[in-house]
This record gives sequence, C-alpha cells and structure tokens, in this order.
Amino acid sequence: MTIEILDWIASEVSVCTKCALHESRKRVVTGEGPADAEIMFIGEAPGFHENEQGRPFVGASGRFLDQLLEQAELTRSEVFIANVVKCRPPGNRDPQPEELGACSEYLHAQIESINPSIIVTLGRISMGTYFPGAKITAIHGQMQSIDGRFIIPMYHPAAALHQPALRPSILADFAKLPDQLNEARAVLGRHAVRKKKTAAHQKIDSPRQLSLF
Ligand code: URA
Ligand code: SF4
Repeated sequence: MTIEILDWIASEVSVCTKCALHESRKRVVTGEGPADAEIMFIGEAPGFHENEQGRPFVGASGRFLDQLLEQAELTRSEVFIANVVKCRPPGNRDPQPEELGACSEYLHAQIESINPSIIVTLGRISMGTYFPGAKITAIHGQMQSIDGRFIIPMYHPAAALHQPALRPSILADFAKLPDQLNEARAVLGRHAVRKKKTAAHQKIDSPRQLSLF
C-alpha cells in the first residue's frame, strides 16, 4: 500500500505543472528510499546533476552526504531522501515561496506515507518546513518532537562544502544521530509508529481517493 502511494505521488510529480519550475526542469526528482524508512532526509531542491539524473543528492553534496551517513552508521539504502521542491530552480537559486507552497503537498504526502520516526532537515529552507523563522545556527543538531515524530534540523551538506568552518559542526551533528535514533525508538516504539500507519491507510481504498492534488 505504502509503495503504491509513493509510486502514485511519483507519477503525479512526473507530470506536475503546478509551479514555474516545471518549465526549465529536465527530470523531476521525487525522492528515493524504502517505503517504510525509519529515517528521512529532506534537502532543498535538485541541483544540476540531480536534474540530469532524476535522483536526489548525486552531485558533490551527495558525495558528502554519503560520508555523513557513514558517520551516522547509516547507508543510503536504508534511508529515504527527498527534497522540499521536486524540480531544479534555474541556476540553483533559492526556491521561491510560491514554489515551496505549490510543491509542499507532495512532500507532506510522502511524509504521511513513509511515517518516519525521525526527519532530518538539511539546510535553512528545509528547516523552515518545521521551524519557520528559526536560526539554524541556534538549533542545528537538536532533536525536537513534533506531531508524533522527531525532527532534527541540520546544516545542508553544500553549506559545509562552501564554508569549511561549518564542517566540524555538521560532522558532529551526524555523529549524534545513532543515539538520537535510539532515543526516538525508545520514546515512540517502532511498533506504535507502524500501528498508526496501518490505521491511517485502512481508510484509503485506492490511492486515487486521496484528494490531495
Ligand atoms: N541539494 C539538495 O538540496 N538536494 C539535492 O538533491 C541535491 C543537492
Ligand atoms: Fe510541481 Fe513541485 Fe515541480 Fe513545481 S517544483 S512543477 S510544484 S513538482
């Protein structure tokens, strides 16, 4: 069921024209990972390489993210990686408020479907989904409970590549992730998370009945 919902979201995104970013995109980047991932990473938007390949974090930031995942004792195959907007902003500019607004339903549908115990937001724009107006310098690496799951805002890997002074902070934040994951497990219990997911999905006979888009 969950896989069907994620596939359905991906098929909607692949033909989406809800904001101007569809005009210049080459490939949409819906996101990838297990449908029942315990942890989800949310970046900002596809960059050059992601737009070419249709996959998240495959350029320089992606290589650094792989190192950071290793630091956190995680592999790509066990986490879900998505972005706040699914199409590349021209020249890698920041996504505009109307683009964020247009695309947010897809991200929220992904989060509902995957139901991760922990969401790691990467960068200021992704952090804004959960902590509007917060300063990333003040709250990075701190796990907070929101809506029955845990959110950890982190620096964007690209920020650490461009500002070497941030590198120790982002490495230290990722090194804390295994303990935070254990803490989340202890508080939520994976079983409790699963139960909630099943109940929510029983209400849906077919993905088409979701009237989100
Ligand atoms: N930066 C992002 O925020 N997301 C990607 O997928 C790649 C780079
Ligand atoms: Fe649609 Fe999101 Fe792409 Fe805009 S960025 S066209 S809302 S998928």
